[in-house]
Order: sequence, then structure tokens, then C-alpha cells
Amino acid sequence: MLTEISVEPRHLIQPIFVTEGESLEPIPSLPGINRIPLSQLAAKCHELIKLGIHGIAPFPKIDENKKSADGVEAHNSNNLALRAIREVKQKCPEMVIFADIALDPYTTHGHDGILNSAKTDVDNDKTVAALVKMSVLTAQAGADFVAPSDMMDGRVNAIRKALDENNLTQTGILAYSAKFASAYYGPFRDAVGSTRKTGESLSKATYQINPANRRESIREAHLDQLEGADILMVKPAGIYLDIIRDVRESSARPIAAYQVSGEYAQIHAAAEKGWFNLKATRDESLLAIRRAGADLILTYFAEAFAKDRQ
Ligand code: PBG
Repeated sequence: MLTEISVEPRHLIQPIFVTEGESLEPIPSLPGINRIPLSQLAAKCHELIKLGIHGIAPFPKIDENKKSADGVEAHNSNNLALRAIREVKQKCPEMVIFADIALDPYTTHGHDGILNSAKTDVDNDKTVAALVKMSVLTAQAGADFVAPSDMMDGRVNAIRKALDENNLTQTGILAYSAKFASAYYGPFRDAVGSTRKTGESLSKATYQINPANRRESIREAHLDQLEGADILMVKPAGIYLDIIRDVRESSARPIAAYQVSGEYAQIHAAAEKGWFNLKATRDESLLAIRRAGADLILTYFAEAFAKDRQ
């Protein structure tokens, strides 16, 4: 009777990696998660709906030979991500799609945008133009929400304007507002193939938020709200619970939090060693994120959590 909050399948969004291949591809750093071929995507969505999960965040893993410095494959109207969105909307229209907007699955260097001529940083405004074009194509393919995860300045405003001008007024924006330059994205970069081939680590610190900055993250969320974001997201989640609470208290918008690949991987790794109870740790980690103030959680645990609820 006195329990204050809960985690229900309806609060969870399942990130899904999609492959151009024909069969399931396990991702070693994300135990239990496979890249899914297009042909199995609709069936997966039907299963998730049955489990009470109504949202997915698809991410494409495209062939290396389609990548380029400017990530122009993002604008190919027949690319893997857009085909995946059309497939889901055709065969499982009730599934809500939160489609990632950033260039990293498409660039040879793995950055979220187009580099400046000195190759020292991404060029903010060139990147915003590319993301606007990508957002319109993504919304036209049927995504319910576009989810810019790139952290360029001014992109939410530019995307909202372009969607409206193209009669896509019903497409929402889930903004990755407080996205930190985190070391916890490693397994994800393996999954979409944006890890540097040379093994050197990829720093996105010139555009993602400094993990030391609390006030800056509140300001970023506030700006995204003013620019027209419908849902504000904090990422990572479990080690940024204070930020989730800050954003919750400074906005009346729905708040999402992304329990990222590294958070999932560390729980699995410790459980594999017998040091954690997997399910108990999983459930507590999700509860903490809800308690901090998140309405929605993007988590690789979504499906397994919902299955255990059956
Ligand atoms: C990039 C993007 C990243 C994630 C989602 N979109 C990684 C990055 O910023 O390099 C990370 C998700 C995760 O670690 O689970 N646009």
C-alpha cells in the first residue's frame, strides 16, 4: 500500500539494432541482445506489444562500404533505417517509433556530424542542415518521434521548423537534451560499428556535455524545451540520477532517461561472475531511474523485464 513508484512495461522503450544481414547477430558486449534482420523486425515488435512495451528506438548497423566522411547514406531514402521504419509501420503500426537522428551510423570516423575542414571538431551548422534533412525523411517514413542524439546547438528548433513546413506537424521530438560525453557508450559503438578501427578512443567532448556540469545540463534541457522538444532526455541514466531529478523539477515536459549500453553491460558482467543477482540488480537499477523522476526509460532490459512480469 505504501509503495510510492513502480516500473511497468509501459514505461520502457526497447532499443533495437537492425542489420542488413539475413540472420540474428549477437553483440558480445551486450549479452542477450542481437542485431535483428529486417525480415524479423515486425515479429519482434508484435512480441514486444504483447509484453506491454509500446516503444522502440531502432539503430541501423550499415555495411562499412556505405559509410563516408559526410555520412550521406543518411539521406538515401532507401537506407536501412528508413526501410526498418517503413517495415514496422506497415506490419505493426501500433508500435511507437523513436528514431535516432545523428550521423554516427553513417560516418567513417564515427562522429555524429560532419567534421570541419581542420578535422578538429564537428561543424555545428553543416551538421544541423544534414540532421534536418534526415529528420524529414525519417518522419516521412513513418517515425512517430524523431530523436536527435547529436547535441548540436539549435538543432531542435531547425528540425521542428522543417517538420512543420513539410506538413509533418504530428511528428514529435524526443530530444537527447542532457547527453554527457560518457565512457559508458562503448558497447553501443560496437553494436552500430562506430568504434574506431585503430582502437583509439573516440571523444565527442566538443559537443556532448562535460560530466562535471550540472547547471549546463539543466540549461541544455531548457533550451531544447524552448526550441520545441516534446520529451526531454537525460543520458546516461543510472550515474546521472541527480540530473534526471534536476530536469524533472525544472520542466513540466515528460522526461525520458537512457540506461545506456555500458550500464546494461556492467550489470550483466558482474552477474556472469556471480557477484550480482541479475534480475534483482536490473529491477533496482530501473526503479532508481523512475524514482529520480523519469517517465520513460530506454533500456536494453525492456524485453527481459517485461517477460519476467508475465
Ligand atoms: C550516437 C548515440 C550513442 C548512443 C545512442 N546514440 C553513442 C554515442 O554518442 O557515441 C549510445 C547508447 C548506448 O550507449 O546505449 N548518436
